[in-house]
Amino acid sequence: MIIRHRPLHPIRSSEITPKSVFDNRRAILRAMGFGGMAMAMAPLLGAGLGNPAQAAWRPETGKALSGTVNPKYTAKALGVEPTAYDLVTTYNNFYELGTGKGDPHENAGFLKPTPWSIKVEGAVEKPGTYDIDDLIKAEDIEDRVYRFRCVEAWSMVIPWLGVPLSKVISRLKPTSKAKYVYFETLFDPNQMPGQNRQVLEWPYKEGLRMDEAMNPLSLLAVGLHGEVLPNQNGAPLRLVVPWKYGFKSIKSIVLIRFTEKQPPTSWNEANGREYGFYSNVNPNVSHPRWSQAAEKVIGQNNLFGLPIKQPTLMFNGYEEEVADLYAGMNLRTFY
Ligand code: MTE
Repeated sequence: MIIRHRPLHPIRSSEITPKSVFDNRRAILRAMGFGGMAMAMAPLLGAGLGNPAQAAWRPETGKALSGTVNPKYTAKALGVEPTAYDLVTTYNNFYELGTGKGDPHENAGFLKPTPWSIKVEGAVEKPGTYDIDDLIKAEDIEDRVYRFRCVEAWSMVIPWLGVPLSKVISRLKPTSKAKYVYFETLFDPNQMPGQNRQVLEWPYKEGLRMDEAMNPLSLLAVGLHGEVLPNQNGAPLRLVVPWKYGFKSIKSIVLIRFTEKQPPTSWNEANGREYGFYSNVNPNVSHPRWSQAAEKVIGQNNLFGLPIKQPTLMFNGYEEEVADLYAGMNLRTFY
């Protein structure tokens, strides 16, 4: 997002695992007994939030994870083909692990997502420091395929495994003073070597208005493509807000704060003229340096091996579900 002149899609198609090979690998993992582990463990779990003695549901990074398929958000229902696993996990923005698209995958080993706790504070009845296993319940995990649109005008389709953010927020019981929810990523330069360079003000910060956070589309993701979330994609817990540019989807969250005032966000702090608080996908409002009317589809190449382009949809195609949130707002002013 900072001005850099790198090829938009540096991964050659020959380096991408064909889907058949990938699916076969998944089938082998399942046959070895990893598939469905989370759901099988679900009945063993205790009360979840507020019950620190419960068993951990989370298999290790790279192991299979499953969730209840949400029929509204399957690839078939959306008429889309999910982007290959190897692309979703090697073409990333995660500046704490490097600013190149391949860096987060290369430096993923620095991050240690287990154990992991999340501090909850601010205008909330149940503040505290929660182990991830207390905050995320296995039986709440859903399998949802979402379109993902980066502000850099490229897109993917990602099959996430995650818990609706509204479920977690409701259990934490925000008070009537909570108008926004603010998130922070881990700050630890040993685990996140990119934090040794001041490319952004660390820790990475993001925020949503409360009604955006409570919208059923907002997801706290813990996995993708049927596996526990890889480190480069924001392990062990990251936000996914599919109608907003990808940078709102903050990774490796360690703090959730409920606030009365609009919180600061990293990209808005870095360059407020280019990145607003709302950051809704909007083909009619250009970024000051490029158009947002179209997007390159990562993984779908033309005859010359370059990603094909497709028109960008208002609210990234989720207009029906979210347009009401912004009724009466001028989306050029609140970009
Ligand atoms: N979260 C943190 N902590 N640091 C980052 O650099 N990059 C954002 C977002 N969340 C980023 C982050 C941007 S610009 C994008 S496009 C998405 O993560 C990329 O998510 P993905 O790697 O899962 O595709």
